[in-house]
Amino acid sequence: MGRVTDLAAFSALLTDEGQALLTALRDYTPSQELAVASRLRREHPADLVTAAIAQARLRQRAVAKFGEQDAHRMYFTPGGVEQSTRRPVAEHRAAAFARLGVRSVADLCGGIGGDAIALARAGIRVLAVDRDPLTAEAARANAAALGLADLIEVRCTDVTEVDTSPYDAVFVDPARRGGRGRVFDPEAYSPPLSWAIDAARKAPHAALKIAPGIPHETIPPEAEAEWVSDGGDVKEAVLWFGTRPGTITATLLPGPHTLTGRGLPNPPVRPVGRFLYEPDGAVIRAHLVAEVAEEIGGGLVDETIAYITADEPRPTPYATAYEITDELPFSLKKLKALLREREVGTLTVKKRGSAVEPEELRRKLKPKGPNAATVFLTRVAGAPTMLLGRPVR
Ligand SMILES: C[S@@+](CC[C@H](N)C(=O)[O-])C[C@H]1O[C@@H](n2cnc3c(N)ncnc32)[C@H](O)[C@@H]1O
Repeated sequence: MGRVTDLAAFSALLTDEGQALLTALRDYTPSQELAVASRLRREHPADLVTAAIAQARLRQRAVAKFGEQDAHRMYFTPGGVEQSTRRPVAEHRAAAFARLGVRSVADLCGGIGGDAIALARAGIRVLAVDRDPLTAEAARANAAALGLADLIEVRCTDVTEVDTSPYDAVFVDPARRGGRGRVFDPEAYSPPLSWAIDAARKAPHAALKIAPGIPHETIPPEAEAEWVSDGGDVKEAVLWFGTRPGTITATLLPGPHTLTGRGLPNPPVRPVGRFLYEPDGAVIRAHLVAEVAEEIGGGLVDETIAYITADEPRPTPYATAYEITDELPFSLKKLKALLREREVGTLTVKKRGSAVEPEELRRKLKPKGPNAATVFLTRVAGAPTMLLGRPVR
């Protein structure tokens, strides 16, 4: 990324001819690619057609994160789509900054601008910094394409070179991918987490985006930690500085629904009741299962497993409720017989604390019939157990 030829190809996309090509390619499907490419190459420079097709493909991939409207106006690099914050998550964070009274943010590691765009749309002035020239160009083009150029200044430099003192807040979203995939050690992030924490401590307010799997021991005492999920998938954890030290929250989007930790001890283990609740991943990562168990009036099926059980159906945004019809010790034969008896053809397999592979299980069971059910493979008070049920509507 960032080679002169890439930059030239990118700039060509911003010309009238490049724009016309991007418009023509908006709804193309990969199966048409060869035919479309050879047709377009008759009228346009081959390099430009190649760049436009690559960009059109990236835009299609970006729809899931940014929505149809924005994705087809924005510009991406392959890494930039992958690493950018999806719109609902970025908007949630931007709203939190706005509530803190923040008017300007130094977005250190701005990427193609996923966060910068949401911040600017919340009325916040942004300095978006990225050391990769092509990524910075894409961020600049995105600010212009979305009418936010007045609020977003893009600077192509190393974050360590930036004086953040003129800004109300700092946001750091370090690169967490190395040459060989995801990086798990926070000191191997670029920039390293310790650098980001130092930068955060110098600012009145700060947020650092980190991997959701980060061990809780790594959280500095003065930080507030928030785990965020969107549509049930855990997306990120964020360390907030200048807010509520030691507080742990889980935020579920859309909503938002935010659960705040109260330092509750582990919930009691109890026999499986009529209902089983599967907490959202953000709740589990934030270690807030006890808070949800208390809300539901339930206990755990096993002290090491994050399934809550209760006798009453209590609606909560923080867990999905299932009505349990059967509880039996783990046995493929028994499960097969039970599914046959219930005429279950559509089986959802969920597991916690079991080594069984759901796909393999489904293959072995070959369920047939008009009914649907969910089977939980788990441990109940230490014993491998199967719970059959269905979601509570
Ligand atoms: C996870 S991405 C940021 C994504 C961004 N928040 C978004 O939503 O689009 C991290 C970015 O940090 C940049 N980066 C990594 N180390 C850097 C450094 N030391 N200085 C400046 N940029 C850096 C990378 O080029 C990459 O674009």
